[in-house]
Amino acid sequence: MCGIFAITSNRRNNIGETLVECAEKLTYRGYDTVGCATVYKNKIHLRKDKGKFDIVATKLRLSEMRGSKGIAQLRWATFGAPSKLNAQPHLDCDEDLCAAHNGNILNFLPLREQYTHEGHTVRSMNDGEICVHAIERYYDQLGDMVEAIQKGCNDLKGDYAFAVMHRDDDKVYAVKMGSSLFAGIGKGETCVSSDLPSILPITREILNIHDGELVILSPTTIEIRRISDGQLVERKPYTSDADIRVAQKGGYPHFMLKEIHEQVSSTRTLFSAIREPYISQFVGSLINANRVFFVACGSSYHAAVVGSYYFNELANVAVIPVIGGQFISHYGDAVRKGDVVVCVSQSGETKDVIDVVHHCRNRDVKILSIINVLGSTLTHLSDLYLPLGSGFEISVPATKTYTSQVTLFNYLAALSGQKREVLESTRAEEIITDLKTHLPALIEETISTNTIKARALAPYLSKYSHFYVLGYGITHGVALEGALKIKEVCYIVADGMYSSEFKHGPLSIVEEGYPIVFTIAPKDSEHLVNHLAEVECRGARIIITGEDHPLLRRYVKDDDFFLIPESNQYLSPILQAIPLQLMAYHLATYKNIDPDYPRNISKTLTVR
Ligand code: BG6
Repeated sequence: MCGIFAITSNRRNNIGETLVECAEKLTYRGYDTVGCATVYKNKIHLRKDKGKFDIVATKLRLSEMRGSKGIAQLRWATFGAPSKLNAQPHLDCDEDLCAAHNGNILNFLPLREQYTHEGHTVRSMNDGEICVHAIERYYDQLGDMVEAIQKGCNDLKGDYAFAVMHRDDDKVYAVKMGSSLFAGIGKGETCVSSDLPSILPITREILNIHDGELVILSPTTIEIRRISDGQLVERKPYTSDADIRVAQKGGYPHFMLKEIHEQVSSTRTLFSAIREPYISQFVGSLINANRVFFVACGSSYHAAVVGSYYFNELANVAVIPVIGGQFISHYGDAVRKGDVVVCVSQSGETKDVIDVVHHCRNRDVKILSIINVLGSTLTHLSDLYLPLGSGFEISVPATKTYTSQVTLFNYLAALSGQKREVLESTRAEEIITDLKTHLPALIEETISTNTIKARALAPYLSKYSHFYVLGYGITHGVALEGALKIKEVCYIVADGMYSSEFKHGPLSIVEEGYPIVFTIAPKDSEHLVNHLAEVECRGARIIITGEDHPLLRRYVKDDDFFLIPESNQYLSPILQAIPLQLMAYHLATYKNIDPDYPRNISKTLTVR
């Protein structure tokens, strides 16, 4: 995924400062390369290079760029290595146009050959450059930017959003075709961006842009037109109440630690974000479905795995959790009318999930979603969605949104069990009361109990380039998530797996002192004793997250026992991830890795 931000103003002529202030908030969308282009005295000025935003902005003095309009781009590399040449924005042949995109242009190689054959100077191996040449090709013929963009988009295949500007006018043009794009209306200036946090320093007056739309920005107006026929689209702006401070660290050294602590409040705001009648409609669709699939990627997939256990245990509903990129090949021909697919996506932009929606649309399958970012592509594509209400999650590794997803699944499963009369109403109410009232304090206690232990364990874990995180039953998804956190921010191959499987092969890795992390649900403590014994007798160093239990204490030193407070058994899987998040965070910082922006990855992947 990448991030684009573009602005045109009649009240600023040092637009570089604004580009830096706003685009910096998109760092989590890509930090392989950065570039800014401005128009000053009818000439395009372009500065770009490899590296993270703050470093490149300082090195190239981006904030000093003059002009009243500009485009910034932050890149997560797909086509073309992270280099200055492949950095965006890109110029057309004669340096009259400049454009930057997010997404991927699937037919970029054949178009590159065609345009080069037609005499274009295509300088890079980055698919984004093709956008500016596609527009230039028609602009040179037609002399009209709107028509040129309409025709240029017809040539481009793939999912993308781009911004483009000409050096001779005060306009910026932008297109949404499968990747996220929002517009903002300020005083004497208008802007577009891949994400809201970068618009809020300019304005809270937001315009949602839908796929297939072209946005024409002038300093005082925004026009939306359908790309297919140029038809004007009337749409009212809304005032965003998003809290921009969420996009600041608030005194924490990293967003990741801040967002771990924010789990106390975000599990609370979840219940004010979801509303009736949508909750009942969501539950109704689930319990009346022929089959239910939870489709997601990364941390959201792990939340879906935990959710599938909740639905089995509380509602006796069999749910199939599926990795986004796997769904079409695994279930694409079998899925049909009457099935329900629940897409779980923090960003609402993950391409591997969006592709499933398009596939299921053609098979008349109902699409429900659980989403954090409102206005995202998935919010437009779903029949019904429930918002997480977690606020901006800036750190690339998901923490608070994962925990809110698991909490929501617990809640929906209890409601479903109650509705299906397989869960005693009083028991369902107990579970729901625990979620809405006791969970925040239990999260706070879990964080405070385990922070020092997590920091103390880091030196030992840092000696290993690989180890295992084992879960059983409802904590299987927790083990997968804990392992992913460690992979993402510590560059260690932490393998999350089902603990009963460990003896069927992986056990061979164990030698004296080898670390094995177990995440154990209260009701499984006795069952796990033999899994603990198998590795302990071979010299492993056992680390446990779970509620206190005398049987477990026989296998683990106090410093390695990451205790979670006693609670009803269904809150435990929510709490279990927190010590693992803290372990990953403190191990990363011990290894001098920035946990917010780990190398090579990005917050949302809008490419398949
Ligand atoms: C990955 C992120 O790119 O996408 C993960 O690094 C995230 O943190 C995964 O869990 C899925 O993203 P989303 O937005 O669909 O939940």
